[in-house]
Amino acid sequence: MLKGNFPLDKFGQLQTPFYYYDMNVLRSTVDEVERQAGKADFRVHYALKANVNPAILREVRRAGFGADCVSGGEIQAAIDAGIAPESIVFAGVGKADWEINLALDHNIFCFNVESVPELEVIDALAARKNRTARVALRLNPNVNAHTHHYITTGLNENKFGINLADLDAVMTLLPSLRHVQLVGVHFHIGSQITDLTSFQSLCVRVNEVQDYFLARRIVLPHVNVGGGLGVNYEHPNHFPLPDFEGYFQVFRKHLHLQPGQSLHFEPGRSVVAQCGSLIARVLYVKQGAAKQFAILDAGFTDLIRPTLYQAYHRIENLSSDEEERQYDVVGPICESSDTFAKACTLNCAHRGDLIALRSAGAYGEVMASQYNLRRLPRAYTSDELAAH
Ligand code: LLP
Repeated sequence: MLKGNFPLDKFGQLQTPFYYYDMNVLRSTVDEVERQAGKADFRVHYALKANVNPAILREVRRAGFGADCVSGGEIQAAIDAGIAPESIVFAGVGKADWEINLALDHNIFCFNVESVPELEVIDALAARKNRTARVALRLNPNVNAHTHHYITTGLNENKFGINLADLDAVMTLLPSLRHVQLVGVHFHIGSQITDLTSFQSLCVRVNEVQDYFLARRIVLPHVNVGGGLGVNYEHPNHFPLPDFEGYFQVFRKHLHLQPGQSLHFEPGRSVVAQCGSLIARVLYVKQGAAKQFAILDAGFTDLIRPTLYQAYHRIENLSSDEEERQYDVVGPICESSDTFAKACTLNCAHRGDLIALRSAGAYGEVMASQYNLRRLPRAYTSDELAAH
């Protein structure tokens, strides 16, 4: 039996909950990124934090994308997947010494540096190895991304980046740091951004920063504008592909590059969100005082986004075509916050039904935990299931 794109007969044999990755959706998304970024020779560094499943990293490598990493673990995962070290960027406000050393040993493309003390530590560690670290200054552009406050990063109140007001002091310090080489500037304003005008505001700020450097006769080899393009969580079937064309167009139109400068991007969610679903089973349908609960065998340990960010994920009953009813869809964890959706319309649910939580390819599997001593969810790709 097949409902939508889901091979239900195979799913019936698998232990739930698990992540399911539709590799056709992933491949067409990756191809679209390649096509649209390629029009202007933009460089893409896939943000591993969204998903590090090896099958997904294989597609990323096949497309020739670089990697955006935020930990030593991610740098290692990128290298293990065959992604070229010279295409790895490394961001994060709290890089530990061993992580900096790992990045130096692999001679990565660039450190995105978030503070003066970090710059000094990178210089000292590079000096010990007698190397020079390429660095980009991550600047806090103070641009509002108009997204959830937990995933807004580019405001003065956020912990990320170097404030523009401190740029003079950094530029004065830099010549004394002989083991770092300034090669770029980096920005990231937030995530799940669907209003492209926020990126336009970012371009305006980047142009101002470029003017600052030009006034000092400095042309940096690269500019990195981070990630953040949002996806359509309401209608993943109708809009499986984010608007990459419109997104890259904003930068082509509004960001003024200097001759020889390259423009870099760090998309995460937009590449992988729509290819993934969390597949769970209904354990119980419970009549509450005023409503019905569909209790799943998946909880916030498997997909934390609804609990943490009040995020919406479309939920479908794959096993039923019966008339629709309303349910609070919840998990088994001993906390009321373990709720995926309230008053959610589903085809009439029964014990054993398979449920899909859609658009879960980004920040799903990677954010799973073992709270309540639960098992981590497994993951299967459509390729694997088709092969059996
Ligand atoms: N670059 C930097 C420096 C970042 O901090 C991030 C995401 C990205 C790139 C990738 O952004 P994306 O293209 O995926 O929007 N767990 C949250 C999202 C956290 C995003 C953190 N930074 C969620 O589930 O919504």
